Parts: sequence; structure tokens; C-alpha cells
Amino acid sequence: MDKLVIEGGVPLNGEVQISGAKNCALPLMAATLIANGTHSFGNVPHLRDIRTMQHLLAHMGASSGHHHVLQIDTSDVHTLEAPYDLVRTMRASVLVLGPLLARYRRARVSLPGGCAIGARPINLHLKALAQMGVDIDLEHGYVVGHARKLRGASITFDQVTVTGTENIMMAACLADGVTVLKNSAREPEVVALADYLNRMGARIEGAGTDEITVTGVCELTPSSCDVIPDRIEAGTYLVAAGITGGALKLKGCRPDHLQAVMQKLRDAGLSIESNGDLIEVCRRGRIRSVNMETYPFPGFPTDMQAQFMALMALGNGTSIIKERIFENRFMHVLELERMGADVNLDGRTAVVRGVKKLSGAPVMATDLRASASLVLGALAADGISEIARIYHLDRGYEAIEKKLSAVGARIERVKQ
Ligand code: EPU
Repeated sequence: MDKLVIEGGVPLNGEVQISGAKNCALPLMAATLIANGTHSFGNVPHLRDIRTMQHLLAHMGASSGHHHVLQIDTSDVHTLEAPYDLVRTMRASVLVLGPLLARYRRARVSLPGGCAIGARPINLHLKALAQMGVDIDLEHGYVVGHARKLRGASITFDQVTVTGTENIMMAACLADGVTVLKNSAREPEVVALADYLNRMGARIEGAGTDEITVTGVCELTPSSCDVIPDRIEAGTYLVAAGITGGALKLKGCRPDHLQAVMQKLRDAGLSIESNGDLIEVCRRGRIRSVNMETYPFPGFPTDMQAQFMALMALGNGTSIIKERIFENRFMHVLELERMGADVNLDGRTAVVRGVKKLSGAPVMATDLRASASLVLGALAADGISEIARIYHLDRGYEAIEKKLSAVGARIERVKQ
């Protein structure tokens, strides 16, 4: 297992190219199962999760290459199953459920099980599919779904769910009649998926609002599109500039996807300007402690909570951080404390009292975004930090040590 060794205390300066979004690329890749032929996606990041999805598609008979332009050929799909070994390492594998049911009307997908950030059930996906006429059985740890025909339905999600909205939107594309999804997720990745499905011939309206209407059609045909920029990667580099007191230019961003994050970081004392797809960020004074709560889009994303906490660890007062999406997304707290952060946890609330400095320490990554917060803490800390188990980081941050060292960070990947 590789680890990262970081010598902190260097302000980062320069330009960073933002990659395509993992959480956009994964549903697009799953969506290829809906239409027979070759699909093509540009701006696909090189990440472990993308390779896992390629393995899953290959297991089903869909072949693909390994480039930033990814072509996926679904002409020979023969296995309608997502096995435990692949779903276990990447929950987004459940995104094949909707497309398989849409096109083949049957699927066998492993239940994902627990996860480092919370229980993360898929009950809302299954309830919606049942409303569309899918018979669902749970057998030997697998969801087995089949239907003679999927039919349109009026579905209200009890809770906003991103992959739930994506799965059901895909399932509805080839259903009989009209499906209305209420309390839908409004994330940009949902909009990007709807855009691609529409390019393939689907009839989806309202993506980006909390009510999405899908009118079923007979068939979709493969098309092509670009993956949208990764707003969480961009947000992480914004914090990197702020926490080290540096100045970065982030290229290839969608500032309109980052409004809540940029606003909160400005409140925390960062100066942020955007122009087209460029965001410039710097910090001159001390970091200001501000409160933050996570919400579904367009609110402050849970995927930026851990990184924001690293920044608040060095704030000038007390910051109260509430995690409203996942019940257990504070695994980074104990590790940040090993670097000298002062955090008190009470259920879903963290009280962060800013300290004057963090100090480098050996720490361990527990999930993707927790790992990012440890990298940020280490970049700002005095001395050397060693971050173990960085395979989590490799799931979602393309070439992170190359991008950081290009802007001045002293960071090295050590193979173990
Ligand atoms: N939930 C249920 N039942 C369901 C579905 C969700 O109770 O059937 C609950 C979850 O347990 C959670 C909340 O609803 O408490 C929201 O979960 P959601 O379904 O929106 O999460 P997800 O779709 O599994 C995606 C991202 C996550 C991101 C969340 C929230 C992908 C592939 N994953 O997960 O990304 O944190 O939305 O925005 O899009 C990451 O990239 O690090 C990551 C974890």
C-alpha cells in the first residue's frame, strides 16, 4: 500500500488543471448499458473508481479503453450481474441496476453493505423500482429484480438521494408512460446524466430542479459527451490555497457548481474571483472561523465537509460544523486531532476550536474525502506527515501528488 509523505508549511502558488468529475463519469458509464453500440466520453479522469467501473462493465461484456477519451462498446453484453467483489469496493456499482432493468428488464446486483461514512442503504432505489412494476427479491446478499415491462409512476423520494435519482431516471427512460420523480437530487452530475440520456434520445425534463419528468421512449442510441469538471476536486484545491496561505489559479472549473463552497470560503477569509472557467484564490489574513452545515445541492456539499474542517482547524475562533447527509462522516476527526486539531464531536455536530498551528504526524486515511482533509492538514502543518492507506485518495483525486508538487508542495508517494 502506498503512502504520502508531506513536509508542510509551504504556501502553494501556481496553476492547477481540474479533472473531470468521478461522480459524473461513473453514472455516464453505467448509462451505456441502456443502448447497444459504442458510447464515447471525453474528460474522463484517470482514477481507481473509473477502472473499477470498467471492470464491472467488462464482467458484463462491455469493453472499453483506458484513456481520457473513453469509448465503451455495449454490443456484446451477456451478464446482467454486478458481483459482490466489485460492488463492495465501489458503491456506485449499484448504478447499473436502473440501466439493466430498463433495457433487459432483469438484473442481479449485490447489496453494497456498510461503508466508512454511514449505513448508506439503497432502500429508496428499490422502493421506486417496485413502484415502476419491478419485482424485487433479496437473495444471498443480492438484489434480484425482474419485470415484464417497467411502467411510469409518480415517485416521491423520502430523502434526497443522488444515485437514487440517477438510477430511477435511467430506469424510467424506456418505461411505458411518464415517470415523475419528486424530491429529486439537483446535483450537477444528475443534470449531466440527464443531458446525456437526452442526447441518446430520452425525453427527460426538469433535471436540476426537484421534480424530474421522464417520458418513456422505445429505444436509445449511443452518443458522446464530455464529463463535467470535478467540483469537489476544485473545492479541495481552493482549500489547499487557503490553508497554506498561497495563491492558486484553477483552470477548467464550473464556478456555477461551486457557489456555496466559494461563499463559505470567502466568509472564512479567502479571496476568490472567477472568470469563465478560471477561479483564482488566495488568502492574506488569518483564517476566520465560520459555521457550516452540509446540504444537498445547491447547499454546501458533504463531500467538502472534511476538507472544510481541516481549514477550520486553523481558524481564529470556534466553528460549528453540522453533517446533515451522512450519520458517520467524521472519521477524519481523530486523525486531524493527531495533528493537533481541537475538535469535539456530538452526534452529527463537530465543534472545532481553531489552533495556531498543526504539527506533522503519521495518520491514516479512512475514506476518500477524509483522506483529502488529511492531505490539507499536512500541507499546512509544521514538519513531516505520513498519510497511510492512500488508495482511498486514488479513488477520487487524479494525480494528486503531481498536481500539488507542481504548485510547490513537498509531497512524495512512497511505495510500500
Ligand atoms: N439514503 C437512504 N436510502 C437510499 C439512498 C440514500 O437512506 O436508498 C440516504 C443515505 O444513507 C444518505 C443520504 O440518503 O444519508 C444521501 O445519500 P445519497 O443517496 O445521495 O448518496 P449516494 O448517491 O450514495 C452520492 C455520491 C457521494 C456523495 C453523496 C451525497 C456518487 C457516486 N456518490 O452518493 O460521493 O457523498 O451522493 O452528495 O455520486 C464521494 O465522492 O466521496 C462520495 C461519497
